[in-house]
Amino acid sequence: MTDAQLPHSFDDEDRGTWSLLMESCRTRLRQHGCAQARAGFEALELSEHIESMHAVDKRLHDLSGWHMQPVEGLVSDQHFYGLLRNKHFPTAPTMRKRSELEFAEFPDLFHDVVGHLPILVDRAYGDFLTGFAGIALRHLDSEPVMKALARFYWFTTETGLVEEDGGTKILGGAILTSSAEAANAMGDPARRTALTVSEVFATDYDIFDLQQKYFVASSYEALLSVLDELEEAAQALRASHV
Ligand SMILES: [Fe+2]
Repeated sequence: MTDAQLPHSFDDEDRGTWSLLMESCRTRLRQHGCAQARAGFEALELSEHIESMHAVDKRLHDLSGWHMQPVEGLVSDQHFYGLLRNKHFPTAPTMRKRSELEFAEFPDLFHDVVGHLPILVDRAYGDFLTGFAGIALRHLDSEPVMKALARFYWFTTETGLVEEDGGTKILGGAILTSSAEAANAMGDPARRTALTVSEVFATDYDIFDLQQKYFVASSYEALLSVLDELEEAAQALRASHV
């Protein structure tokens, strides 16, 4: 186990940054997060005080079977999806700088822990993610398929929205952990469109800027039942590029 690599102590800047981020993130999550992210956030008992990630990892594992996997920088698709397939969520081990409170270009510890771990507590979402990773691992040798699947991951797990009880809720970790991204996503309905696999596959994105487009799943259950369609679309895309 790579537990020893999880950060367990933090300096004053890290502690202050975490607290400030959590202040706005908790309100946003409780008001606009999807039901599963809200429930997972409460179950994980994340607070405004940063704590040893060993403790967070233990609670995550007890609740979901998932572990945090500290990962520095970018990793290969094989490594990334291999971790997800085995219920290890790639987690940046360091906090963003205080100057990046509103919008951090790269994932940091806060983004990964508060943006992604809560929804993993929902067993169905965890299964969805391992199933998704399984599809990706079967297509590692097809560049167009890997590009399309990266778009699907981005437009769901990072910037996805979902219809819930007649309203639009946040599912994606990049929106949950950024007040600027949340304002952008929730502010103008013209930026939101119904999620379909074909349109997601055809839509590019820029990780260094606020999104121009957000995809809304018709329901949480509808999103989680899309894996068969995703595999078929991946195979069709693969076949069209041989
Ligand atoms: Fe992320």
